[in-house]
Amino acid sequence: MSDIVYLNGEFMPLENARISPLDRGFVFGDGVYEVIPVYSRHPFRLAEHFARLQNSLDGIRLANPLSDSAWMKITHDLIERNIASCGEDQSIYLQVTRGVAKRDHAFPKDVKQTVFMMASPLTTPPKEQIDNGARGITANDFRWLKCDVKSVALLGNCLLRQLAVDAGAVETILFRDGKLTEASASNVFVVKKGVLLAPPKDNRVLPGITYDVVMEIAQAREFEYEVRDISEAEVRNADEIWVTSSTKEVLAITNLDGKPVGSGHPGPVFRRMHALYQEFKRDVMRKG
Ligand code: PDD
Repeated sequence: MSDIVYLNGEFMPLENARISPLDRGFVFGDGVYEVIPVYSRHPFRLAEHFARLQNSLDGIRLANPLSDSAWMKITHDLIERNIASCGEDQSIYLQVTRGVAKRDHAFPKDVKQTVFMMASPLTTPPKEQIDNGARGITANDFRWLKCDVKSVALLGNCLLRQLAVDAGAVETILFRDGKLTEASASNVFVVKKGVLLAPPKDNRVLPGITYDVVMEIAQAREFEYEVRDISEAEVRNADEIWVTSSTKEVLAITNLDGKPVGSGHPGPVFRRMHALYQEFKRDVMRKG
């Protein structure tokens, strides 16, 4: 069965979806997006994803084309329509652009936003990667200073992510002014002497929904943690490094720039957090 997508008020097979080449998403990358994981047909933290969407829309001065209840209805509908093609665990992608207009950098007047949504099967890291960890590399964070806006203009992230792919690694961990920000498509945590360190959620990073889950688990289970700026040296001397995202969940980086991180194996704090995350997924996320 073919994928069913949502475009500007209608559900349709992907091959029937058409967008003008003058769409500002295509011409300027002028839009924002969300990626929402779905477990056993239940979208996870939908309200939080729509709150972040609103924040991104505010950040680019674009009105929200739909109410939260309309977004929720469409999301549930899209999930059900894609069970046959994607299964019950899905990744929902949605994007809103400033619409179709004659090319001019300034905002057009009275133009309707373009709304597009699609579903794909949710693919989380393979067991081998969870057990052994993954390779990471580092780079200078040369992106703009509104990284808290989930913009579709992802060229910086794409260039940075490709550096990892070229090096046979899964992620590129980023430093700005000697401080850890995040990775090309995930947030980053560090463990030193048993203490979990998290960079603050500010304009330098995307406020990850998975980041929040990890912090909530850390608080509820009394992990020792600190939310503060983390220096490049602290990352390079860390006992553990983790990356988190809706699709990666929590993944250990066990080799950074060709050197082992700590023991070179996923550490004890990671293993505890990963087990608690899986427990949370089974007991909370899958129940809706
Ligand atoms: N990316 N930071 C960046 C730059 C990201 O692109 C993402 C997620 C995250 C983690 O956010 P969350 O925990 O809400 O998934 C952090 C998504 C998955 C993507 O672009 O495909």
